[in-house]
Formats: sequence, structure tokens, C-alpha cells
Amino acid sequence: MVDLHSQYLNIKQEIDAGIASVIETSSFVKGGKVVDFQKNLEKYLSVRHVIPVANGTDALQIALMALGLKAGDEVITPTFTFIATAEVVALLGLTPVLVDVDSDTFCIDLEALERAITPKTKAIVPVHLFGQNADMEGIMAIAKRHNLFVVEDACQSMGSEYIFSDGHRQHSGTIGNIGCTSFFPSKNLGCYGDGGALFTNDDELAERITTIANHGMRIRYHHDMIGVNSRLDSIQAAVLDAKLPHLDSYVRARREAAEFYNRHFADNPKVITPKTATYTTHSFHQYTLQFVGVDRQRLISKMAERGIPVMVYYPIPLHLQKAYRSDRYSQGDFPVAEKLSETVCSLPMHTELDKEQMEYITSNFLDILGQC
Ligand SMILES: Cc1ncc(COP(=O)(O)O)c(C=O)c1O
Repeated sequence: MVDLHSQYLNIKQEIDAGIASVIETSSFVKGGKVVDFQKNLEKYLSVRHVIPVANGTDALQIALMALGLKAGDEVITPTFTFIATAEVVALLGLTPVLVDVDSDTFCIDLEALERAITPKTKAIVPVHLFGQNADMEGIMAIAKRHNLFVVEDACQSMGSEYIFSDGHRQHSGTIGNIGCTSFFPSKNLGCYGDGGALFTNDDELAERITTIANHGMRIRYHHDMIGVNSRLDSIQAAVLDAKLPHLDSYVRARREAAEFYNRHFADNPKVITPKTATYTTHSFHQYTLQFVGVDRQRLISKMAERGIPVMVYYPIPLHLQKAYRSDRYSQGDFPVAEKLSETVCSLPMHTELDKEQMEYITSNFLDILGQC
């Protein structure tokens, strides 16, 4: 699905020099590289604060802790997402309230979102799934009407921009109270292990987030609040700082690959190609199609026989996951997400796909599609 080795070879010198400088200075934790990357990412995103942490799941958890939410508070999030989005809500003793997604964008459905608001609702966590932003202008308007916090799950959308109705643009994750991202190796901006970050324009929140991520400690061994230990290590920061100047070209490469797939599949009645909403750019963290009347499992097996991986993100929506079953929901409650979980498939998508590989994937896909 990804080719991290080829990507590394193309920027080997920058990566190797960055890692070597960390080892040379032996500043492995909270070293200069972490600060360099933090500052460079703030500049790239045009956001006041970036707080690096250990991974995207921690970023989401720390965001909810920083907002001071209390056990029993409800947090609304889509049912069609990676588990981490709802997991941290449940772990903190908050109540995840799941809602359906939009059938075109796969992101949270705004009507369903507003219907799910109760007096206990305190926050919304929209997910910018597969690389395009949820309808943030609409979400921020709902949040304002009901006095709710917004934490953007931007783990898959680094490099995407939200386009406001007046034409101005902001980077994904910088619009809500807090944005969270992941630097997992396969992400749009990925390191060589685990990493994550929070973004905010709110100075007070940034201070709380920094404190919580450091054991709730402002002054050494004085613990003002319950925190966690979550740090981006300096070697990962060196990798990220070397890759950041390439991020826009990486996003362009993903977009070009998506356009290639779209051109080849557009007229095929057995697939629905991904749609990009007018209010967002798409960074194609995943290229995700919907099948119409296709035996998905048979297609995946036949593609595997020809050496082409095809993945299903995500085969089970959260409300049907064993750990998240609740009296609140039953099968059939979220028809869009349920249908997507049965019909979507994602094709290889990364920055190093060349024309020959793309042609091999598309011609085999179309051939096998005809048999399934
Ligand atoms: C939508 C979403 N949220 C959260 C996460 C969690 O990020 P991490 O794996 O860095 O903890 C991911 C990463 O897979 C994700 O895709």
C-alpha cells in the first residue's frame, strides 16, 4: 500500500544527516530537533502552537483532557473512522456518541451531528477521513450555536486545506479549538516509528496541553494536574523535519495518482470513484472506492494473486464493534456507514507510484473487476 523505502532513498542524505546530528549531540529527548520541527510545522500550518507528542492517539486523548471534560460528558464523533477517535473518549470515562457519515465525503454528516446533541454534549470530534476535510464551517457554526468544543482528528489529512466560503484557506486541523495529527510512517507526513502532534491557536490551551503531555508538570516535580508521558523523540523529529519541506510535493504526487485512478475508473458502473467536496482540498491519504454489486473478497484475493494489495478501511463501523456495542445503537441505525463498510476498498496510494506501477494496478484492477 505504501513504499517508504523508495521515498527514503530519494531524500536519504537529508534524513541521514538529521538522524546523525541527533546521535552526535546525544540529545534524544526534547532535543533541538524537536524544537526545530515544532517551529517549522507552526510556520507551515500558520498556527500559533504545535505541541509534539508520542502518537496521534495520545494527541486526541490529551486534547480531551485539556478541555477539562468530565466523566459522563458526551462527545460526538463519526461511526466510520479508525478506532482511536472513539477509544480515547471511552478511556477518559466520557461517552462517545456516534453518528452517521455523508455518503459522498465519508466524513461526519452535519444533520446527524446536530440531531445527536443533548444537554450533556460538550465536544465534537470530526474526522478528516482519507485526507479531505469535514465541513468545518458548518461544524464550527453548530459548535457555536450549542457552545461546544471542536477537536479535529486530522491524523489522515496533513497537507490538506479547508476552503472557506469567502475563499480563504486554512490548513487541516487549525480551525477547531484543537487539531490532532499522527506521524505514523504511512501518514502523509510520517516518521520512522510513532509520532503525533496537537495544534491550537489558543495560548491557554497550548499551555495546558504542554503541561498534560509532561506528567501535568510545569515546574520540575511539581504536578499541577493529572497528566501523561507523551513525547516525540528527537530522532523522529529529525526525520519529520527533513520530510516537511517535501510535504506539498508528496501531497501533489498523491493527488496525481488519485487523478490517474479516477480517469481509468470514471466510466465503470461497478465502482464509484472518490468525490472531493468543494470546501476542501484532498491529500488522498487513502484512495477509497465504493463497489456496486461486486464480490469484494473475491476481488481482493484475485488482486493479491497478482501482487497488488487492496485494503478495506474500515470493515466494521464503530457502533458494531464488540467493545463499543451499546443500548444506544443497533444494526441499521447508521445506513451510510454500514453500507460503506461493506462496499469500500482502498488501492495502493503513496508518493513514489510511477506510471508503470499505476498502469499495472489499474489494468489488473479493471480486468479482475470484470470477473467479480
Ligand atoms: C483517523 C485516525 N485517528 C487517529 C489515529 C491514531 O494515530 P496513531 O496511530 O499515531 O496513534 C489514526 C492513525 O492511524 C487515524 O487514522
